[in-house]
Amino acid sequence: MFKKDFKIFERPYVYLDSAASAQKPQVVLDSLMHFYQDDYANVHRGSCELALHATELYEEARKTAADFIHADSKEIVFTKGATEAINLVAASYAKTLKKGDEVLVCIAEHHANFVPWQQACLLSGATFKTFNVLDNGSLDLDDFQKQLTERTKLVAIAHISNVLGVVNPVQKVVKLAHKVGAKVMLDASQSIAHMPFDVQNLDCDYLAFSGHKIYGPNGVGVLYGKHQELEKLKPYQFGGDMVDTVSVAKTTFAEVPARFEAGTPPIANAIGLGSALKYLNNIGFQQIEKQEKSIFEKLTLGLQKIEGIQFLGDPSLKSHLVAFNVSGIHPDDLNLILAKENICVRVGHHCAMPLHSRFDVRASLRVSLGLYNDEDDVKAFLKALQKAIGFFR
Ligand code: ALA
Repeated sequence: MFKKDFKIFERPYVYLDSAASAQKPQVVLDSLMHFYQDDYANVHRGSCELALHATELYEEARKTAADFIHADSKEIVFTKGATEAINLVAASYAKTLKKGDEVLVCIAEHHANFVPWQQACLLSGATFKTFNVLDNGSLDLDDFQKQLTERTKLVAIAHISNVLGVVNPVQKVVKLAHKVGAKVMLDASQSIAHMPFDVQNLDCDYLAFSGHKIYGPNGVGVLYGKHQELEKLKPYQFGGDMVDTVSVAKTTFAEVPARFEAGTPPIANAIGLGSALKYLNNIGFQQIEKQEKSIFEKLTLGLQKIEGIQFLGDPSLKSHLVAFNVSGIHPDDLNLILAKENICVRVGHHCAMPLHSRFDVRASLRVSLGLYNDEDDVKAFLKALQKAIGFFR
């Protein structure tokens, strides 16, 4: 239904790898071209009409991102992606955590919400702890509560793991974390394009997502932080535009969010991201969720009929992505045949090695949906998968 909005689908690709990166609708590409062709200048610097207009467009994109998650513009920092957004917060925590403090991270985290915290603990002497997921892929809330202590300063968790695909009960996690005074970093990279978002309801302290997974350009991401939390963070990078005054003796820093946007920011990409968010707003999440749910059900029902499929987690709990193995066949081998049929999926540990170890597998094959996928994609994928399995059995 939405394929027509994406020029790439004039070519015969069955694109089932939107969790890695989503395709871009024409409106996003047009807005990038338009900005570079007609409106391009640096922001927050010049005073000619072009520069003022570019600043206006960039700040409008910040407002669009803020509205999209029910935040205030002051709470939105543009970064180059979710990874940088999380590193920004972790780098500051690395400077303030002390020995005896604890950081608690879900075992299912993508390396981007795992390694920065592990390193922050190494640097500060704090203790890095993990909590588990159940065999069905949902959070082990008992383990979470066991590991959460008065010493926990931060909990890092994905809204949806990029391998398990289960929507985590974030509100519950946040409530429990706040009870012991811990802050919560929510990685929304895999949920932001698939469901409506309200940081007021979720009450997370920080949230990160990448533009390229929500049909926007790559090279831009968003860090949301509650205003009072951003105020407490140390600057991450130093340079132009993030300062107030600079002298040989001393530098004072700009207000948030400018304090965290050193150097020329990803101007065009942020504007392109604004267009992507408007594109989604126009369609509406009711429509997106309905469409993706129906296609995903067809996909998992089809997979469940295949002999020897071993899912990572229970497929009935998943929202729009599923990872699995087929017994006796390496996923790389399956992928070779899928790729020949123009089927794009992802194989490997998906930047979630601790999770794969938890499930005692080295790799898996992941299929993930975007709003453009339809029943034909699912049929083509299942047919090609059967063919690949037949070849190796
Ligand atoms: N984080 C992206 C994925 O899961 C790249 O594929």
